Amino acid sequence: MAADAKGAWARPGLRRICPSILSADFAKLEEEIERVERAGADFLHVDIMDGQFVPNITFGPILVDAMRRMTRLPLDVHLMILEPLRFLDAFAKAGADHLIVHTETVTDAREAARAIRARGLRAGVTVKPGTPIERLVEVVPHVDLALVMTVEPGKGGQAFLEGSPERIARVRAAIDEGGCDCLLEVDGGIAPDTAVTAARAGADTFVAGHSIFRDPDPPAALRRLREALDRE
Ligand code: DX5
Ligand code: ZN
Repeated sequence: MAADAKGAWARPGLRRICPSILSADFAKLEEEIERVERAGADFLHVDIMDGQFVPNITFGPILVDAMRRMTRLPLDVHLMILEPLRFLDAFAKAGADHLIVHTETVTDAREAARAIRARGLRAGVTVKPGTPIERLVEVVPHVDLALVMTVEPGKGGQAFLEGSPERIARVRAAIDEGGCDCLLEVDGGIAPDTAVTAARAGADTFVAGHSIFRDPDPPAALRRLREALDRE
C-alpha cells in the first residue's frame, strides 16, 4: 500500500483496534479472524518471533500468507526477529501490509523503514521497554507507525508496564511537533482500562491479544474496548 496524501493515514481522533492473533485459538484461526473482522477490528496484529530476539517461536511467512487469504484486514506484522531485513521480501510477498522492526535488530532504523516502504508497505519501528525511547523518537519523521511496547516482547497476557504513559507521551510530542503522519501504536497488556491510560498519553492504535481472544466472547470484548475509547 502506498503512502496516502499527508493526513490521510493518521487522522486526529481516529482510534484503531488491532487484535493480536497470538492469543487466538489456532485450531480455528479463520473463524477467530472472521469474528473480530465482523466486530470492527481495524488491523490484525501478527507477532513473528524467532526464539533468538525473544525466547519464543511463533511462525513465519507461510502462515502470514494463509491469513492473507482469510481476511481483508490490513496485516500489521511485528517482527521480533534478528536480521529482519533478510525477511522483508518474504513477508511482503506473503501479504503483510505493515512491517514493524525493532531498533535493537537493525543498525539503521531509518534505512530499515526506507527498505520497507520501497516494497510498497507501511513502515513501523519499535523499541523494547528497556531501550531509551529516544531511539524511537529520532525515527518518527521517517516511519508510518511508531510502536511503543508496553510489555517486554515475547508473549501475550502480561501486565501493562507502569512507565509506559511517559514513553507514549514522549513519542506523541515528537509526532505532533514534527507534524508527522504517523500512527502511535501500543502493544502489551491492553484492555479497556489500560487502553484509556494509553490514549490519554497519546496513543491512537491499540493492539490487544488476551483481552480480546481469551474473552469468552471476543467480539463483545472488542466492542467494550471500542466503547471505553469512545467515551474517552
Ligand atoms: C508481545 C506481543 C503482543 C502480544 C500482546 O510480545 O508483541 O502483540 O500479542 O498480547 P497481550 O494483549 O495479551 O498483552
Ligand atoms: Zn506485537
